[in-house]
Amino acid sequence: MKAEHVESDLTHVLFTKEEIAQKIEELAEQIDRDYEGRDVLLVGVLKGAVMVMADLTRALKGQYPMDWMAVSSYGSGTKSSGVVRILKDLDTDLHGKDVLIVEDIIDSGLTLSWLRTNLESRGPKSVEICALLRKPDAAKTSIDVKYVGWDIPNEFVVGYGLDFAEHYRNLECIGTLAPHVYE
Ligand code: XMP
Ligand code: MG
Repeated sequence: MKAEHVESDLTHVLFTKEEIAQKIEELAEQIDRDYEGRDVLLVGVLKGAVMVMADLTRALKGQYPMDWMAVSSYGSGTKSSGVVRILKDLDTDLHGKDVLIVEDIIDSGLTLSWLRTNLESRGPKSVEICALLRKPDAAKTSIDVKYVGWDIPNEFVVGYGLDFAEHYRNLECIGTLAPHVYE
């Protein structure tokens, strides 16, 4: 399937390729300003954050190493439970590092909340979060997200790393899925 054909599976496009690129630039500027001269490690959460990380690291002026984690959240259906299992751990020792977790989307915030606590227990200097998207529920939890691209409505979104059954990650825009796809 070619990406332009897949775009017809969307009800509407929330953010275009150009809008996403602009937002990534803005986030990179803030991060460069805040982290200049510090011992930073960017931690991407597989697989959704792959696109955000790829574009963010190229927009950043600072040369920050990256590492990856894969986690799976036990949940019923599409809701996460906050009980998380590490499928792939970091290769990097976090002692003394300023860790910035890079995420695609925060929904309930339970996964990230668990992840932050887990990384904080490994002796870093700081742990902060950068998420491209945030849903309203996450805003209600106590999780403090330092960098957020956009707050979005409570709809299931795909594209730019976000998937439905592993499809649509390669869309250059972010949009909501048309009902005919999942019904
Ligand atoms: P919580 O609820 O713990 O879960 O913040 C966050 C994770 O849930 C997935 N997620 C989505 N994936 N479109 C997706 O493709 C969505 O609209 C969506 N909402 C949540 C995602 O894996 C995220 O890391
Ligand atoms: Mg994710």
